[in-house]
Amino acid sequence: MSKIEHKYYISPSILAANFTILGKEIQQVISAGAKSIHFDVMDNHYVPNLSIGPIVLRSLRKSGFEIPIDIHLMAKPIDKLVCSFIKEKSNCIIFHPESTNKIEHILNKIKENNCKTGLAFSLSTSLKYLENNYILKNLDTVLIMSVNPGFFGQKFQIKAINRIRKIRKLINNSGYKILISVDGGINANNIYKIAYSGADIFVIGSAIFHQNHYFETIKEMQLKIIRAKSDILSKNKN
Ligand code: DX5
Ligand code: ZN
Repeated sequence: MSKIEHKYYISPSILAANFTILGKEIQQVISAGAKSIHFDVMDNHYVPNLSIGPIVLRSLRKSGFEIPIDIHLMAKPIDKLVCSFIKEKSNCIIFHPESTNKIEHILNKIKENNCKTGLAFSLSTSLKYLENNYILKNLDTVLIMSVNPGFFGQKFQIKAINRIRKIRKLINNSGYKILISVDGGINANNIYKIAYSGADIFVIGSAIFHQNHYFETIKEMQLKIIRAKSDILSKNKN
């Protein structure tokens, strides 16, 4: 496979999986080429839905899943949850800046436990948090929401495209190696545009788990990412 594919990847969001066979679902997306798993944590308070917590992550690790698992916290407060998810071997913990008034402290806590950090931006969240150099310096991922947090299966909001472009520029100018993850409403029809705008990680729920053939679905989307990234390269050469 081309080098491009390793740099940019799809992260299936298990919120849209069949929870009665969660292990099997995860095994199937891994076999189909998933490089990480997206794990949505909702508390029915910060967002109007309730999902899964650290005990489910513990079961997955106990069953032998070693794939990187990225935790997307849509909860408040998050202090204790962050500690629990570190303990259960998360690879990356992503939280919304509005869910705490101790952003820098939480970033430090995650980092000092050898876990990767991420800040999630809802469509209405100001990007001003990224003007803070201390935050930027300690971030591994910026997750840009392209739907309102809370549910799978929503329509991709086109205004996310401009935010991806803006953040791509900001990160490139900063010189830090921060990945851009995009979450919500991604499918085979819009993935090219999202990749072309500057996304690195593509969080996808229903457009994978509600399809019959995971391998073909993921392959098709990976090819579109590769095409978008090589189109960027050729545009920059000219
Ligand atoms: C929404 C979640 C997403 C969601 C993605 O709040 O953060 O990760 O599960 O699902 P789709 O791809 O169906 O929008
Ligand atoms: Zn998510």
